[in-house]
Amino acid sequence: MAKSIDVSDLDIYYGDFLAVEGVTISIPARSVTAFIGPSGCGKSTFLRSLNRMHEVIPGARVDGKVVIDGQDLYGPDVDPVVVRRQIGMVFQRPNPFPTMSIYDNVLAGFKLNAKRIKKSDADAVVERSLKSANLWNEVKDRLNRPGSSLSGGQQQRLCIARAVAVEPQVLLMDEPCSALDPISTSAIEDLVHELKESYTIVIVTHNMQQAARVSDDTAFFNLASVGKPGRLIEYGTTATIFSNPEEKATEAYIQGRFG
Ligand SMILES: Nc1ncnc2c1ncn2[C@@H]1O[C@H](COP(=O)(O)OP(=O)(O)O)[C@@H](O)[C@H]1O
Ligand SMILES: [Mg+2]
Repeated sequence: MAKSIDVSDLDIYYGDFLAVEGVTISIPARSVTAFIGPSGCGKSTFLRSLNRMHEVIPGARVDGKVVIDGQDLYGPDVDPVVVRRQIGMVFQRPNPFPTMSIYDNVLAGFKLNAKRIKKSDADAVVERSLKSANLWNEVKDRLNRPGSSLSGGQQQRLCIARAVAVEPQVLLMDEPCSALDPISTSAIEDLVHELKESYTIVIVTHNMQQAARVSDDTAFFNLASVGKPGRLIEYGTTATIFSNPEEKATEAYIQGRFG
């Protein structure tokens, strides 16, 4: 289920604007990789190139290679719609369907993939997904209430349940805790830790403590100045990046001297 991600020489454009340049990185399966770096350095852009969401913006394109467990993500036979369904994404602001029930929210992506599904199978998917998102005990008695009846932290876990319901190969998270309180943040971090048993997780965060707590590996991105492309500056185990980085810029960023 979990897949490794191999990116080589990836350039990412918005029209003529080169937003991210020359990224080469190998992300191992069943691990958590944190993307860190100052605002505008291309973390979100790069993340969206990993499930082909980048190109939904008119004029947006990539040049280079992304290989997920041996399959070329941008190969001629690959359907980007299928890729987006298989590689789950969780965003900064929890985005459950507000009027849809908790139950149906969990199944929203799953139903797009599977045409017909028996009630008993659907029940099993909902229970399994909510359990893996650490939300089951809080919602099992009110599965028919709308998604909007949950707190922000619960909504984010509901979005994670929706993402894992399809048993994705990779889970991409773009600052998933930035709109959450500390207790909900802690719940999501615990969850990320558990989910890496089954998934390859990439998490963008601007919170250095969070990167240090949840990730195995860390990739630091930076840009020379506004308008210049973002680049991957340094990538390694989180322990190394945080305690003994090779690059001066990495050290300065981690120490909070810019960003
Ligand atoms: N939809 C878009 N159209 C044009 N440029 C964009 C778009 N989204 C992001 N950018 C630009 O791409 C660069 C990287 O942005 P982004 O990936 O959001 O950085 P980060 O997530 O690290 O803050 C920035 O210069 C940003 O202005
Ligand atoms: Mg971003």
